[in-house]
Amino acid sequence: MNRTDIIAERLANVPFAEIRKVAERATQLEAQGKKVIHFEIGRPDFDTPAHIKAAAVDALDRGFVHYPPNNGIPALREALAARLQTDKGLHYDPQTEILVTAGGQEALYLTFMSILNSGDEVLVPEICFGPFPLVVGLAGGVPVPVPLQADRQYAYDLAAAKRAVSPRTKAILVNSPHNPTGGVLSEAQLREVAAFAAEHDLLLILDDAYDQMIYEGEMISPAAFPGMRERTVICGTLSKTYAMTGWRIGYIAAMAPIVHAATKMQQNVLLSVCSFAQYGAVAGLNGPQDCVRSMMAEFNRRRGLVLELLRRAPGLELTSTPNGAFYVFPRITLPNFTSAQVAEYLLEDAGVAVVDGRAFGEAGNGHFRISYAVSYEDCREGLERIAAAMGRLAASTG
Ligand SMILES: Cc1ncc(COP(=O)(O)O)c(C=O)c1O
Repeated sequence: MNRTDIIAERLANVPFAEIRKVAERATQLEAQGKKVIHFEIGRPDFDTPAHIKAAAVDALDRGFVHYPPNNGIPALREALAARLQTDKGLHYDPQTEILVTAGGQEALYLTFMSILNSGDEVLVPEICFGPFPLVVGLAGGVPVPVPLQADRQYAYDLAAAKRAVSPRTKAILVNSPHNPTGGVLSEAQLREVAAFAAEHDLLLILDDAYDQMIYEGEMISPAAFPGMRERTVICGTLSKTYAMTGWRIGYIAAMAPIVHAATKMQQNVLLSVCSFAQYGAVAGLNGPQDCVRSMMAEFNRRRGLVLELLRRAPGLELTSTPNGAFYVFPRITLPNFTSAQVAEYLLEDAGVAVVDGRAFGEAGNGHFRISYAVSYEDCREGLERIAAAMGRLAASTG
């Protein structure tokens, strides 16, 4: 074939995830016999709770092996609606206002494909989960990065957001708890951003991937604020809460026209989400929640250790204390080093895999992300190695 235009232009500027490259290099080092501490992986290290697995196996045994409904099995939509009600005081009709998706990632994709016309702009955090701007772009939209306030749990700088709004702005995306910083917005901050969305007549897209993973304080949804339900789209997932990243179960909760449009997309993208995985998800949502509490208690124990050791490490500082998810995003205070160089040094010299802050946007330069979804012992060893390596770097600069 002679053509040079085989691959669609829309993918020209879509890179592979940086995290994948780090993980591949870590695997090579391990193959050479080196022990690597894996702070790069953004997923709970726990096994999925046994009762969830048993429900999926049971569904298989009972013959639930055929196409499920495009919008998800009724039992799962009902379980999601019930949890939104009890956890956040939100009422969503399971028939028309909830769509089951293949994880939060597909929820985001279907949402943007359903709401954006070509050239529509979406305000996104300038430090964020890598796919946010890419998915907006794939849906024909234009991501507009907005600065965050590092000393305010990485809330949007709303004065900057105001300057970024144009007649084409259609939505603003909020992710709290926030990947990669662990920042959690207070009720007052959520009210500010909700008021901002209302003032500029924007949709508020909530990435709630870590909504159950808050250490101190309540889980509050801006969808519950007066007048906000009609302009909010919740993109949620069971991936992190129940250590189910491989199951690929997420959801959209929004007004019926949006869910209707996203269901049309779903019919043409995936048809429907894996049948028996959905039965497992029902057991997760309706069953006992002590598994979530014990995972969170362990994450909190690790968080305490990681913060304590990080504060003592030379050449690093934390602007906000992370209050959610399982991430910390220290800033490198040594002059003369980019975060790419530091991340590479930590992996090659100290055997600690972290993610360069630029994987989360250019504004992440000068930081790296640690995911403490590894054992307590590995947290300790990893942080000790980081502190020693940062000490060597500091000494090398005099
Ligand atoms: C902020 C955020 N949103 C969405 C996702 C996607 O999660 P999943 O597709 O597994 O539900 C992730 C995964 O790391 C994330 O960090």
